[in-house]
Amino acid sequence: MCGIVGVVGLADCSETILDSLKRLEYRGYDSSGIVTQTKDGFGLQRAVGKLKNLSDLMRESPLAGQSGIGHTRWATHGGVTEQNAHPHVAGDKVAIVHNGIIENHVALRATLEAAGHLFSSETDSEVLAHLFLQAFDEGMTPEQAAASVLSRIEGAFALAAMHVDYPDMMIVARNASPLAIGLGENASFIGSDAMALSHLTRDVIYLKDNDFAIVRPEGAEVFDSAGTPVNREVVIVAASQGVVDKGGYRHFMEKEIHEQPDAIAHTLAAMTGADGTLSTPLPREELAQIDGIVMLAAGTSHYAAMVARYWIEALARVPVTCEIASEYRYRKPVTGAFSCAIAISQSGESLDTLMAMRHAGEAGLKTIGLVNVPGSTIAREADLVMPTRAGPEIGVASTKAFTAQLTALISFATALAEAKGAIDTARRDEIHAQIQKLPSMVGRALASFDEIRPIAHELTTARSALYLGRDVLFPVAMEGALKLKELSYIHAEGFASGEMKHGPIALIEEGLPVIALLAAGEVMGKAASNLQEASARGASIILITEERAAATVDFADRVVTVPNIDPLLAPVLLTIPVQILAYLTAFEKGTDVDQPRNLAKSVTVE
Ligand code: G6P
Repeated sequence: MCGIVGVVGLADCSETILDSLKRLEYRGYDSSGIVTQTKDGFGLQRAVGKLKNLSDLMRESPLAGQSGIGHTRWATHGGVTEQNAHPHVAGDKVAIVHNGIIENHVALRATLEAAGHLFSSETDSEVLAHLFLQAFDEGMTPEQAAASVLSRIEGAFALAAMHVDYPDMMIVARNASPLAIGLGENASFIGSDAMALSHLTRDVIYLKDNDFAIVRPEGAEVFDSAGTPVNREVVIVAASQGVVDKGGYRHFMEKEIHEQPDAIAHTLAAMTGADGTLSTPLPREELAQIDGIVMLAAGTSHYAAMVARYWIEALARVPVTCEIASEYRYRKPVTGAFSCAIAISQSGESLDTLMAMRHAGEAGLKTIGLVNVPGSTIAREADLVMPTRAGPEIGVASTKAFTAQLTALISFATALAEAKGAIDTARRDEIHAQIQKLPSMVGRALASFDEIRPIAHELTTARSALYLGRDVLFPVAMEGALKLKELSYIHAEGFASGEMKHGPIALIEEGLPVIALLAAGEVMGKAASNLQEASARGASIILITEERAAATVDFADRVVTVPNIDPLLAPVLLTIPVQILAYLTAFEKGTDVDQPRNLAKSVTVE
């Protein structure tokens, strides 16, 4: 989603800005732009499409200057056009970039137009440029202008603004959308996340909601919403390897699929105490107090939550509800039955999940952030953090973060079950031993690439596909369908196998691909019968299963097997072929695997 970067006080800063924008590319965008302060006023370049288009423009007409801001835009208000791309300049005096949505932009625009301001885009963001212009034209100082603009806007935002009369000064502000300020030796930087700044500095200030700051080469002065100077801690962010590369793979997604054994092993290490047993961020006595859990998440992370519900309820006998984060706070949930909320988010920045977690926190629930990005907003705001250690995930479609989330969640479920006295230590150790085998089992499941290639080839011509799973594999069916649609743009739905007969079976026609997930366990026989019903009506059954269960469905058209595993952990292992199938189908269709159309990695609008 939209990315913001900025530099104050660095000679020829436009290349640095472009380089930082590349680090935010993974978030998803459809246009980009850079503005710099030159001795003759602003230099502006904007382009639709990939950053390469912007860098080509900059090669033709370089942008001079030692201060500037850059932006990657993911369209919300107004189409994908150069005019709507940021930065927006008003009156040749003010330039702004913005991430988020200004909810009262219609009223503000009307007021500004009535006062003679001419707009050149369809965006909500442009009102910010005109509000700053108006404030400066009225003779306000940068601090006064910032306080005035912030008092007039509503919604979630991160913004940066420059004025031609202040060549080495930038105003930044945020509410709910992420923004970090990086402090260098003789220059300062801003970025939507620490990754955008990691090649420039490790000293970072995270603004709190409704803070604004005046950023100069020598540092940043931070103010709260009342305009009172405040101290915000300088955090030293972990050293980064710089821009993450594809390591010889064709796509980040392919690399990240292969990184899963490591991602799982590292996450398991984070969930292992000094004595070698499974541990959680909560001490045993506090775990024992948990009497109900609300899971809050979006997208793939939501499916991790749904798998975890099966685990926690079955093992620990603690009730769990899984909430789509964007729905949670608006339906005024009754929270009395729950003492704990787990917000699951790879990025730690999904605004829906952040807002849902805040709502749960305000209702008195203890909040745990299960996040992959240390220092992200959810990590900073949660009462406790339970980290996944999957490493940077760049492909928009989540892969290694998902299996790392599952690893953390089965570990949490097991520790919770033991603390609640629902399982004994022997059973706990047995499950722990199974979890420890996951990295090598997932490594073996990765060998299915070649087996899946011809299946993916056939799937490229499908108009639609169904994914079926029962019990703990039902959420994996939904995750599989999501993966196929987001990567290859083929319509797909995931259903609980047993629910087919209550409606979706009407969709079955000759040759419809049905991707069936099956593992040994209590419901295997019933799940196999459900597949028989689909096959009898002409569906083409693509069975993804354990070696020992393959023979149960002798009518399958195609079979992919993974090693046998404890039924509890089947969701982790069966996810691997599901990811590979979506990846190879998209690859063969020639879609943009790492940055599928219309999608963003980090969704910072509601
Ligand atoms: C976006 C991404 C999805 C991701 C979801 C939740 O929609 O495209 O791949 O699952 O956000 O992201 P999070 O970072 O909160 O896990």
